[in-house]
Parts: sequence; C-alpha cells; structure tokens
Amino acid sequence: MDPSVSGLTQRLAEADQSHLLQFWGELSPEQQAELTLDLQGMDFKEINGFFKNAMEVSSSSKHEKMDARMEPVPREVLGSVTRDRGSLKEWEQAGLHHISQSKVAALLLAGGQGTRLGVSYPKGMYDVGLPSHKTLFQIQAERILKLQQLAEQKHKIKCCIPWYIMTSGRTMQSTKDFFSRHNYFGLDKSNIIFFQQGMLPAMDYNGKIILESKGKLSMAPDGNGGLYRALGNQGIMDDMERRGIQFIHVYCVDNILVKVADPTFVGFCVQKGADCGAKVVEKTNPTEAVGVVCKVDGHYQVVEYSEITLATAEKRSSDGRLMFNAGNVANHFFSFPFLRDVVQKYEPKLQHHVAQKKIPFVDSQGHLIKPDKPNGIKMEKFVFDIFQLAKTFAVYEVLREDEFSPLKNADSQDGKDTPSTAKHALISLHHRWVLNAGGHFIDENGRRVPAIPSLKDGTDLPIKCEICPLVSYGGEGLEELVKGREFHPTLMIDEHGVHELVKNGV
Ligand code: UD1
Repeated sequence: MDPSVSGLTQRLAEADQSHLLQFWGELSPEQQAELTLDLQGMDFKEINGFFKNAMEVSSSSKHEKMDARMEPVPREVLGSVTRDRGSLKEWEQAGLHHISQSKVAALLLAGGQGTRLGVSYPKGMYDVGLPSHKTLFQIQAERILKLQQLAEQKHKIKCCIPWYIMTSGRTMQSTKDFFSRHNYFGLDKSNIIFFQQGMLPAMDYNGKIILESKGKLSMAPDGNGGLYRALGNQGIMDDMERRGIQFIHVYCVDNILVKVADPTFVGFCVQKGADCGAKVVEKTNPTEAVGVVCKVDGHYQVVEYSEITLATAEKRSSDGRLMFNAGNVANHFFSFPFLRDVVQKYEPKLQHHVAQKKIPFVDSQGHLIKPDKPNGIKMEKFVFDIFQLAKTFAVYEVLREDEFSPLKNADSQDGKDTPSTAKHALISLHHRWVLNAGGHFIDENGRRVPAIPSLKDGTDLPIKCEICPLVSYGGEGLEELVKGREFHPTLMIDEHGVHELVKNGV
C-alpha cells in the first residue's frame, strides 16, 4: 500500500526519519511490502527517545569518573569453590532439592549474532570438533536431562527443569528447526520454551536510522538485556508463575563448560537469601574480554570490558592480584519475585549502552558504502544491568578450568576463545574427572601418561577423552566405570558404556 495512505509517510516525517522512504519508487512490490511491514512494527518516537538518552549517557563525563566510584566485591557476599569447600555439598544438596521440586528453570540467552565467530547460523548449533561432534545446544540439553535424573533419583520424585531459550528475529526459526530435527535431544518438547527478543535499528550520529540497502533497515537484536522486555511481552513470566518456578539460572550460549541450572550455585544463592547472584572466575589478565563484577556508587554492577579504562583494569591489590578480578562468566541467578519486579516495573528505566560501529549503509545517491571507521551506533541493554536493583546480591567464584571456556572467535593461530580452546577445555576437564575417579591413561607404549598433561606440539592434546553429560553432570558417578582401569586415549564414556576409539581416530 502507498505509504502516504497507510499513514507511514506522516509518522516518519514527524519522527524526522523520512529518508527511509527515499528509494520507495525503485523498490519491487515485494520489497515495498517488506519495508512497510518492518516500518509499521516500529515505534519511532520511542526509538528517537532511546537514541537521545543513550547518546546523553555515553557522552556525559560519567564514564571517565567511573574509575573513582568503583569498589571490588566485598568479601561477605562472596562464596568460593576453593575457600568454602566445606559448604559445597550442602549448597549442592539444597539446589538439588529445589530442582526436585521443579522450582528451578534454566534460561538461555541465544539471541546474539555470533559476529566474531563468523557463522551464519546460531552459535548453539556449532560443533567445536569434539570426538562426539556434539553441538553446544546438545551438550546443554543433556546436562539438563542428567540433572533432572540426579534430582529425581535423590528425592524419588519426578521433576523438570524448564528450559527457556531466548532467540532473536535472526535466530528463532533456525533454532527451533534444529531442536525439532534432533527430537529436542531427549527433553520433553513442552518444557522447552522459545521466545524472541526485540530488534533495534542502527543509527547514525545524527539520530537517523541507517538503511543497509534501499529497502531494508540496518537492524540488530537489542542486547541480551532485551531479555526483560521479551519476558514481559511474550508471556514468559506468566508461564514461569504457572509452573511454580522460584529460581532462574540465566546463562549465555557460548560457554562449553556451563553447568546449566548448577545446583551448587542455586543452593548457594538461596542460602544467602539473594534475589540476584553472579558467577565469576578470577580475571588474571587486565585486557581479557570479560566484564568485572564490582560496586559502583555502592550498587552492584558489571563494568563491561569495553567500558573500563586500562588504568583501572590494571590496578592491583597488595597481594598482587588484579583489584577488579571478579570476571563475569555470564551466569546469573534471579529469584522469581525479583525478576517479576524487574519486568513489570524497572525494565523501561534501564538505559541502553552505546556501541560505536562501522555500519554498511546506502548513501543518499543509493550507493552502498562500507565505512572504514565508525559511522553510527548500535544500542543494547545488558542482562546484568539489573544487578543494581538487587536487595541482596551474592557472588559465587568458580574455577575457570572447570566452568568457563567461551566460544567467541573463529580459529586462528594463538587465538583466544576459539573452537579449539573450547574443545580442549572440555576434553581436559573430562580427563581430570577420569583421573579423580581413579582411572589412568596409558600411551601407545603402555606407559602411564603423567597426570598433568602437557601440550605435545601446542596444537593438540595428548589425551582425548569425552564423557557424555548423560553419564556425568559434574564428574560424579565415574568411579564404577573407571576406577583402577587403564585406558588408551581416545576414551569415550557415554550412556552405552566405556569405549576406546582407535588410535588417532578422531
Ligand atoms: C558477555 C558479557 C561479559 C562477560 C562475557 C563472558 C554481557 C553484556 N557481557 O560478553 O560481561 O564477561 O560474556 O563470556 O552479557 N545475546 C543475546 N542477545 C543479544 C546479544 C547477545 O541473547 O542481543 C547473547 C548471546 O547469544 C550470548 C550472550 O548474550 O549468549 C553474550 O553475548 P556476547 O555478545 O558474546 O557477549 P560478550 O561481549 O562476549
């Protein structure tokens, strides 16, 4: 329909965005229909308001002064897998109890575009090259299944951990199709709930929405903090309430070691009476791309790696450790009432963060330009921006080698957070599980491989070992399978038993 008839022309003029129809006459009827559909769904006044606020916040002097207002996490809210060994069992048992009562849900943030990894499909579908070739989605699904079983066995009661999966316009259909093709990896389909976060247009520095082609706006998901709006407008909080969910574990798709719905973390947060909690690992390198959990003006917050100054990131305490070392691994705990309050009351008040980007655009002559320096912004909310609203906040420190190896970048020489580093992290964790359970590895000459493996040639691990999550969630239950036995790598332990794959067979 002609945009002036539908009222679009006027709405765009009022919002000072008329340029979006500049090429209308050159578009095919299909392109016109698509553009109309996109534009009709947008609230330009709101978007202009977001732009104004975001630019004000990012240009204010607030950032430079942030350093002086930051304090490390105080000891009393910290729990630690190393310092609090004596309490771990108790927290785990408490968490398993809540799981057995079907009070715990897992919520996966999977709406990102995986730009750095450079694949066109959702990151959860990525196969990092494990012996089993399982994808991130499958590994997570199997951990949920196993955890349900552990809670059921312990408490003799049937339970479920609903799995809420946030996707975006770009990833929704392919994610759903992937799960359906794989039969939901053995989970009950009715307990996997997909929902979709919003998108926002990229804007130039004058607040004009950018066209990526003559008939298409440059759009991107509105950040993982888009979660809160999506939870409200897609009825997810109602679904949680109907199911009696009380505790929610929110996590990111890319960490191959993620302990989905981790009972120890949940038990710890509940025991602390926390409405909100974060899992962290020690940040040891000042320039590592992780946010740090800290306090700013007395409120808990994550200061993102893109927002901290190098001088602050490099500050050290008297013990030589980084002063801001609570590295955010994007695993969060929320109580249901807290999350509901955020969704119902506070979401509109959360500010967008601004990322300056090089955004391909069509200029007024209709030429596609790929800029070589930033020409506009993307606006995103962050999932942890609600920490400041918590009444009781808890921080749980875990070991990086056990729980954190994110997949961010494509493989490259000496690359960080790549498919190879993720694969190695999982294999080396499972190797250690076998050793802890009393198993041993022997090399081709029948000699025992030393317990502390070294990388032979820097490219691959001497031991290859993978344990299916359906056999063990966190290293438990392996003694009966491996104790006192010797294995040639590659060792695979799955629901069908213990197998040694032919040498170099991976
Ligand atoms: C994130 C954290 C960072 C942490 C790091 C650890 C945020 C904002 N930052 O950074 O503090 O140290 O992980 O690995 O959480 N996503 C969406 N929708 C979006 C954008 C992203 O669902 O619009 C999801 C992604 O699918 C992914 C997760 O959020 O699961 C993290 O996104 P990513 O952009 O990779 O975050 P980082 O910058 O690595």
